Amino acid sequence: MRKKLIAPSILSADFSRLGDEVRAIEKAGADWVHIDVMDGAFVPNITIGPLVVRSLRPVTGMFLDVHLMIADPEKYIEPFADAGSDMITFHAEAIDSPENIIGRIREKGKKAGISIKPGTSVSRIRPVLPAVDMVLVMTVEPGFGGQSFMSDMLSKVRELRRDFDGLIQVDGGINPMTAPLALSAGADVLVAGTAVFGEDDYSSAISGLRGNG
Ligand code: DX5
Ligand code: ZN
Repeated sequence: MRKKLIAPSILSADFSRLGDEVRAIEKAGADWVHIDVMDGAFVPNITIGPLVVRSLRPVTGMFLDVHLMIADPEKYIEPFADAGSDMITFHAEAIDSPENIIGRIREKGKKAGISIKPGTSVSRIRPVLPAVDMVLVMTVEPGFGGQSFMSDMLSKVRELRRDFDGLIQVDGGINPMTAPLALSAGADVLVAGTAVFGEDDYSSAISGLRGNG
């Protein structure tokens, strides 16, 4: 069986102490750092640019998982790759031809992920599944942390799991109650913002997501 990975989203971290927050989740047993990039156009919020990824790179050995919620991802592959991202995930809804952008990510030696919003079906991305390392199934509307998990999205995870061998990530509303649902549907990577950074004890928050509460 595949290892289940926990990827805390720094969207819910204390940005005035971002380096310490990342060191703290690493110590607490996190596997990846999830970095939510929003441009105020694809989603109604603005967050992080490549500079922040560059600043975090020397702080941690953890895998930097960059989730681009931006209208023109093709334009920003190079800056995010050069800043030290390990995986770059873009939204299927933001582009017409995902093949090109996947190629650009690979040329930079990075892992490539594609994400679908709640209203987008798995069939929309089926042609590119053989080319990606990960599919991110959004379990909330992208834009903000702290929203409620949409359990209808689990059917997409199950559908993908039937014939997709890469990683399946879920993002939005993951907590100790919803994590087991996502895992049993076939998810490999759990993103959690509030359920980690909203708790005082990051270690117990992360073990709780692994089902060791
Ligand atoms: C939402 C982001 C998520 C968000 C998750 O657009 O992609 O990564 O930070 O936050 P929680 O875990 O609080 O739902
Ligand atoms: Zn995210």
